[in-house]
Amino acid sequence: MPKIKTLFQCTNCGAESPRWLGRCADCGEWNTYVEQIVAPAHQPTSRKSTSPAQARSITQVSQEKYERLDSGYNELNRVLGGGIVPGSLVLVGGEPGAGKSTLLLQVAQKLAQQHPTLYLSGEESVQQVKLRADRLQVTSPELYLLAETDLEIILRELEQLKPRTAIIDSIQSVYLPTMTSAPGSVSQVRECTAALMRVAKREGISLLIVGHVTKEGAIAGPKVLEHLVDTVLYFEGDRFQSYRLLRSVKNRFGATHELGVFEMTGAGLVEVDNPSQLFLSNREDRNSGTAVIVSCEGTRPLVVEVQALVSPTSYTSPRRTVTGLEYNRFLQILAVLEKRVGIPLSKLDAYVSSVGGMTVNEPAADLGVALAVAASFRDRLVDPYTVILGEVGLGGQVRPVPQLELRLREAVKLGFTRAIVPRGTLPEIPGLTLIGVSRVLEALIAALPETGDEAKSGQ
Ligand code: TYD
Ligand code: MG
Repeated sequence: MPKIKTLFQCTNCGAESPRWLGRCADCGEWNTYVEQIVAPAHQPTSRKSTSPAQARSITQVSQEKYERLDSGYNELNRVLGGGIVPGSLVLVGGEPGAGKSTLLLQVAQKLAQQHPTLYLSGEESVQQVKLRADRLQVTSPELYLLAETDLEIILRELEQLKPRTAIIDSIQSVYLPTMTSAPGSVSQVRECTAALMRVAKREGISLLIVGHVTKEGAIAGPKVLEHLVDTVLYFEGDRFQSYRLLRSVKNRFGATHELGVFEMTGAGLVEVDNPSQLFLSNREDRNSGTAVIVSCEGTRPLVVEVQALVSPTSYTSPRRTVTGLEYNRFLQILAVLEKRVGIPLSKLDAYVSSVGGMTVNEPAADLGVALAVAASFRDRLVDPYTVILGEVGLGGQVRPVPQLELRLREAVKLGFTRAIVPRGTLPEIPGLTLIGVSRVLEALIAALPETGDEAKSGQ
């Protein structure tokens, strides 16, 4: 019997080493190396008879048209770059309870209306899936359910049934019996994905694979999983909020950072066509210290309200708390307000949050945050029909933001009439008055007119 070869692999990043290491040389994590059996190399048999591949001029390569499959949900189609590409592998990651199984069962129903679809559950029994399906009113006869964790059986079923699409829920629950390591281990996850991929590419089956995420937020198992698949989507959302965000972080067939928005209801997930409404509070009933910005996720603009509160501190060093925005950028904005605009904030606690808990990581939100803080400090209202856009530099200058016109058009759709934007060539948008500013102070005067003299004297 041949000697079994093993190697050690980092469970955090997937790096390999012939010997055990206490600390991973690649990612720096401690105690992450586990022993893995090296699976025998797969011999490609089909290639032998054909002539070796030759390089061709790009003009000679015939353009393959992807006939994308409609997932039945526009929000998902957009995130995928226009629909599901036949034979592609899509990994859907998310925390437990995010709604991955719900989403994919609903998608399976829509797909099964067009062609045979297999829903494989490694975590729930067929009866449990059926119970959920009944609740979601999933009834298509072309939807096949299989509750199995042995990957060899799953692969056989895929080859026999030849569905156009198959859903694997989840990759951590299936295992190859030829390998000794436990389901969910690095080598199992990697080998199972590779085996599924081979069958999927050969039979032209599109696979949607669920992957659990670790507490650090990465899809459990190795990073190699993300390299293997064509598209990686993350399904996220606060458990206390009903909406769920679907983001693409990798896509071989479309742009990344696209965003899809769903709402979890008693009858499953429902698409949200106009998500900007979610991130705005009632504009007629506003407090001081709020400003509206337009963030851009991929090609999708989202109107988001930011709220700030400054109040005298009772600590030796004041508190700074951020929800949904970047902490370091917030500190930077506070420093600019203090030094360049003359707002004394060092004895004040400062809190900032985005409405609805939407995460905004863009510099384009800087000016809006700055004005929200300034408005809270002055206890004044920013006009509720004004949006504010601009990156703030350390010198107090307002820098341009990408995709300005796209953002402004979204604001107009929601009834905004005025926008404070970085000075420069400004687009003509009917119904919107644009005010170009080059410094934070100018923006402050435009947004809160009465504070102008006061602020100037502080500089
Ligand atoms: P689930 O899809 O099982 O999440 P995941 O597969 O990502 O772990 O379920 C997510 C949550 O959604 C679960 O706590 C119950 C809730 N839910 C609803 O609110 N409405 C519904 O119609 C369904 C099916 C689930
Ligand atoms: Mg699930």
